[in-house]
Amino acid sequence: MTAQPTVPLDPAPDLRATPGPPRHLAIIMDGNGRWAKERGLPRIRGHQAGAHAVRMVTEACCELGIEYLTVYAFSTENWKRPAEEVMALFGLLEHFIAAELPTLMENNVQLQAIGRLRELPINAQCALEDAIRKTSTNTGLTLVLALNYSGRAELEDAIREVCQDVAAGRLLPEVFTQEHLRNHLYTRAWPDPDLLIRTSGEMRLSNFLLWQLSYTELYVTPKLWPDFGKADLLEAIQEFHRRQRRYGGI
Ligand code: IPE
Ligand code: IPE
Ligand code: MG
Repeated sequence: MTAQPTVPLDPAPDLRATPGPPRHLAIIMDGNGRWAKERGLPRIRGHQAGAHAVRMVTEACCELGIEYLTVYAFSTENWKRPAEEVMALFGLLEHFIAAELPTLMENNVQLQAIGRLRELPINAQCALEDAIRKTSTNTGLTLVLALNYSGRAELEDAIREVCQDVAAGRLLPEVFTQEHLRNHLYTRAWPDPDLLIRTSGEMRLSNFLLWQLSYTELYVTPKLWPDFGKADLLEAIQEFHRRQRRYGGI
């Protein structure tokens, strides 16, 4: 019998060698359409390749010991796209959830979602609810899908709830603070992101986590999302470690 190799055959970088990963990583996964266009393929093929990148990056976050990964998958503004693309995206979401559930369970990942979820197609809602329930007792990485999400809609929903508290006499306007508002955000259970990655080079937030990104470190890469892999994530985290976070201090 031949001896087992003593060195790993996989040349991928060892992510565990990185010191102190960010607790919460947020990603604007952009560039699927351009990735497909470059190859003369329909846009949905770019989204399919993008789903594969989500799988790779989620796995890398587990290896790294990142606690929360929030990914922008569909914005409230993305309904402006052709109905055919929107429907294909939700079909892909359903397929992705079903295909990934065993791996999420195996990797102890808890799935969560933020956004106006009740406006999603019913099949997507059911698939999502089912996976959220089945992974609810997992204690590793929390993977948050932002779906039919926008920062302004989130603030609108949170402020509406605060107004309801005031109208019902549960909260006096004089004692209202930003903490009350924070406690009504979709993300109230989690810390704010430490690092935001945006792929495909656009220098904008596109209505993502407007409140939560106040002191988040920003990292924009020209790589298109389907091309973004473990080595790119490691590079972003290394850059994050070079940043000095001052929070307004000196
Ligand atoms: C991001 O890729 C995915 C979604 C917004 C759903 P895009 O579809 O925006 O890709 P580009 O920006 O057109 O290349
Ligand atoms: C942001 O990407 C939304 C998601 C990644 C889901 P967009 O492609 O929609 O953003 P804009 O239109 O370039 O600002
Ligand atoms: Mg885009």
